Amino acid sequence: MERRKIHIDVPLSEEDALCVKGLNQFFEPKDFSLIPNKHSGIDVLLRRVNIKELEKRVAAHDSASGILRRIFKEIRGIGSYGLQSGLRVYVDYNQERKVKDRAAKEKAREKHFYANGHPFRPKPADLPEDYKNKILCGDSLDILKKLPDNCVDLIFTSPPYNFGLDYDNEIQDDAFWKGYFDSLFAIFDQGIRVLKYGGRFIVNVQPLYSDYIPTHHIISNHFMKRKMIWKGEIIWEKNNYNCKYSAWGSWKSPSNPYLKGTWEFLEIYAKGSLKKEGDRGKIDISAEEFKRDVISRWSIAPERKMKEYGHPAMFPEKLVERVLKLFSYQDDIVLDPFNGAGTTTYVAQKLNRHFLGIDISKAYCESAKRRSHGILV
Ligand SMILES: C[S@@+](CC[C@H](N)C(=O)[O-])C[C@H]1O[C@@H](n2cnc3c(N)ncnc32)[C@H](O)[C@@H]1O
Repeated sequence: MERRKIHIDVPLSEEDALCVKGLNQFFEPKDFSLIPNKHSGIDVLLRRVNIKELEKRVAAHDSASGILRRIFKEIRGIGSYGLQSGLRVYVDYNQERKVKDRAAKEKAREKHFYANGHPFRPKPADLPEDYKNKILCGDSLDILKKLPDNCVDLIFTSPPYNFGLDYDNEIQDDAFWKGYFDSLFAIFDQGIRVLKYGGRFIVNVQPLYSDYIPTHHIISNHFMKRKMIWKGEIIWEKNNYNCKYSAWGSWKSPSNPYLKGTWEFLEIYAKGSLKKEGDRGKIDISAEEFKRDVISRWSIAPERKMKEYGHPAMFPEKLVERVLKLFSYQDDIVLDPFNGAGTTTYVAQKLNRHFLGIDISKAYCESAKRRSHGILV
């Protein structure tokens, strides 16, 4: 029977030793036991334990010195492999899940097999000065073609969704789907080219539920064809309950219930490697933010100031802040090829990253520039 052994270095009086022995009787020895170490302190042998039950027993049977509370505090801080029927499980992950030779099997299966044989090279290039900390007006396809390979650390963007939104006059948001994806993928391909090795390409996307178009899957399929590694997905929970309940005629019937999405997706792809090298001194995420943001469901309200900025589909600043802190270092170069009213570039500047923002609309670029100069905040 496998158990995890943890040594706790505490002095033990005779009374303490009796309390320790007394506590053991409430638990199955194969799951949990405290054994006085012959040199000093206590060895804890752990397989699984109900932590609430343990806390209750500790409170009821502690010695005057509070030895059990001290031991409990240590045990509570030990990382477990998760909960099983209310018990914290501490034994080896492989054993617990009954997978033998996990490492060998993982190796044989191959991680992100679809990215094998990728063409990416690790040598970075500098972003030319003319493009550094700039908001440029034009078609991203034309502008990105002028940049060298491997010169940008992170791309965060939200493409036009082809929903027929009321953008500035110059933009057609309801092009036929093939044309839409062809144009989008031509720009994404340039983005992949200019991204550094280990860099992240993060696409905010919403499927078109009403037309049954899984845009997020179509986009992921394209990135995987280009040998980018799918690093994961964040659910941006907007708590948007404004969408329709059901097609008329199918209310409360299995005939055709309409599924609602109150969220959008952030699809994250990595170029060449999942690991992004960087200077540890340039990390600016706090421990609390890190713990919160690696759980990939982020509840953030939609941007409320869209009228003020004159743009119909802006990122909330909080969303960009979380993305940049979790996936980039200070001084990194952040690109948004569909920069709109410039939320990505504004937040990048605020968080001491360099930026390049491109949008085809002059009006949006003007908003983005004014914002980055601190006029609109
Ligand atoms: C969903 S919006 C991005 C909004 C942005 N995230 C913000 O916070 O304001 C998409 C943007 O893509 C721009 N766009 C569409 N086609 C483009 C192209 N070929 N090159 C550059 N920008 C383009 C549109 O003008 C629009 O502002």
